[in-house]
Amino acid sequence: MKKAILTIAAAIMTIAAMAQPKLTKDNIDDVINAMTLQEKASLLVGVRSSLVPGAAGYTCGIDRFGIPVTVLADGPAGLRIRPTREGDSKTYYATGMPIGTLLASSWDTELVETVTKAIGEEVLEYGVDVLLAPGVNLHRNPLCGRNFEYFSEDPLLSGKMAAAYVRGIQSNGVGTSVKHFATNNQETNRLENNSIVSQRALRELYLKNFEIAIKEGKPWTVMSSYNKLNGNYTQQDYDLLTTILKKEWGFDGIVMTDWGNKEGTVKSAKAGNDLMEPGRQNEVDRIIAAVQDGSISKEELDRNVRNMLNYIIRTPKFNGYNFTNKPDLAAHAKVALKGAEESIVLLKNDNACLPLKGTEKVALYGVTSIDFVAGGTGSGEVNKAYVVNMEDALIKAGFTLDNTLADFNRTYVNYKKAENRLNHGWAQAKVKEIAVPLSAIHEQAAANDMAIYVLGRNAGEGADRNINGDFELTEAERDLIRDLSVEYHALGKKVVIVLNIGGVIETASWKGLVDAILLPWSPGQEGANAIANILTGKVSPSGKLPMTFPVKYQDHPSSLNFPYDWNLFHARGVKKDFEYTKYEEGIWVGYRHFATRGAEVSYPFGYGLSYTSFEYSTLAIKATADGFEATIAVTNKGSVAGKEVVQLYVSAPEGGLEKPACELKAFAKTKELKPGESQTLTLKVSNYELASFNEATSAWEAASGRYSIRFGSSVQDIRATAEFKLKKALSWPVNNVLSPER
Ligand code: BGC
Repeated sequence: MKKAILTIAAAIMTIAAMAQPKLTKDNIDDVINAMTLQEKASLLVGVRSSLVPGAAGYTCGIDRFGIPVTVLADGPAGLRIRPTREGDSKTYYATGMPIGTLLASSWDTELVETVTKAIGEEVLEYGVDVLLAPGVNLHRNPLCGRNFEYFSEDPLLSGKMAAAYVRGIQSNGVGTSVKHFATNNQETNRLENNSIVSQRALRELYLKNFEIAIKEGKPWTVMSSYNKLNGNYTQQDYDLLTTILKKEWGFDGIVMTDWGNKEGTVKSAKAGNDLMEPGRQNEVDRIIAAVQDGSISKEELDRNVRNMLNYIIRTPKFNGYNFTNKPDLAAHAKVALKGAEESIVLLKNDNACLPLKGTEKVALYGVTSIDFVAGGTGSGEVNKAYVVNMEDALIKAGFTLDNTLADFNRTYVNYKKAENRLNHGWAQAKVKEIAVPLSAIHEQAAANDMAIYVLGRNAGEGADRNINGDFELTEAERDLIRDLSVEYHALGKKVVIVLNIGGVIETASWKGLVDAILLPWSPGQEGANAIANILTGKVSPSGKLPMTFPVKYQDHPSSLNFPYDWNLFHARGVKKDFEYTKYEEGIWVGYRHFATRGAEVSYPFGYGLSYTSFEYSTLAIKATADGFEATIAVTNKGSVAGKEVVQLYVSAPEGGLEKPACELKAFAKTKELKPGESQTLTLKVSNYELASFNEATSAWEAASGRYSIRFGSSVQDIRATAEFKLKKALSWPVNNVLSPER
């Protein structure tokens, strides 16, 4: 009798366990079968929580299945969480790393992995499961307000950087979210703007970077964008999210929305947007109602739920990771420093003005020398414990500063910040350049060895940049450069400009007035130390531009279709570039346009100087099973150590589709080469990578014939050429989707 009771009890327990299984990686279907509709719908919608203060969002936990709440927090220039907590004396700062554009300027995937491995450790140790990064959108136009978070105007460089970024973060067992998928190339009306883009431009540019990031990085999650693409919200587009992303590219993670709440939740769920963030009850209700009335099928619902559970079992939360809240911030500060040192671009260096001795008496100009811009604003802003400014960094490096000038800048910045706090309740706004009287510059030129002027800009989420006073210099900046040039040059002294900016600015009209220009972008909390180390020659610069610096803003074909005059959109009835933006330039973006049309630029794509010089030799090309492999030797011919980035551009044979004069197909960076030292680099290109997209056949096509392979130190500075012969034409058909005419 007792035995029978025990058997019945055991059976009941088994049934109960079957009905309510605890989630493991082997019983996902059992859990799905045991879930109620309410539970399934809830899992597809984010929840509010305070698990990690300052995190952007959470996924829903369901206790009875052992499904934990998981935590999602921004990026990309480091982890964004709140640094202090009520009633808690501990701090929770994260490391402010170089912005995406600076990382891309390294052209060094290993370096990017090192930086993001450190970011990922902070993600893990602060109890976060997914970093909402990297931002991958292409620099279609220099004025996009979030370009600083993004990598490049070129899809290959952008995709390779993104894949490296993902690998570094995910090596910690935490996830990434490659964003914003896709064509989120402007901030103006970003929630509603409809990007109208040809299939070819989409495939070759705006999706290509994501394709590389997905295939080579294997991110856990992708974030769809707010905007529409060819008429549909991207989050509601089955062709984009399922046909292309999941089926063609094999993405096996979850897609989440960007942070909104669009009425078409049902369409989003059907399209393959698995998770709605940050999540509202009305989204849960919409999903439940749609399942009940049949507009979402059980298969569609379960598909998304299965994706969510597959995501959840990967997370540290699910795996019970005991986070410490003590990432190694001291070690990561060193990584931040290295990340900047290896990426800063030297744009100009007349008569070997740099490196400096390091003992000079420097007149340090510019409010930005104090109000230094470590990163951009918005969701990409990292709450870091400190930012080294240029004044601190130069003193630490051994320079003597003109104290009167430094005091003048500091006092003015403090005054402006206090004024901002008083008038607007916050002190964040960037302080604008102040005019310096010519008489003062005259005296400073006599009293100092040289001038360094730190010119600053910041950019951020939610607004695009303007031409006046942002792309172009302000009057105070222009006057300052002119006066420094006149006064210092009259005494045979040098003028160095440091561009502490988040996006491309105009340089053509003033660069002739100065001796050296350094471009550190917004280099993170340790960036000023990195600049000092480059100025003194402790590090030889090795960064290269990931985009073109045009002569004029209007030289970019996309300028005809970009909302560069923000005020215009307050005028009634302006729809163009606000409600919709036609990417009429097609594939003619960045150097694809400038190189093909032979248009003059201020600094070309891939450009950057070094303190040494390199020679390219012994080039060899060998066919492989699916493309070719090129080897090239690089020798340091100068007198100091340095690194070189070799860029492989390909020009396609005549005939077939119209193609850019050349396209970047591979790149590699040498190790640090001592004077006289050589290294042989190997660069691989597959036939698929040679192909262009033919809308008529909906296929990637590589024409047969002779491909010219060019090895450049920039797109304009080709040092060696070779040929690769593709014997027969190749084609890779894909789904004919996302047409603007649909
Ligand atoms: C931004 C995303 C960010 C999210 C969460 C959105 O407004 O576009 O990049 O990840 O907010 O903060």
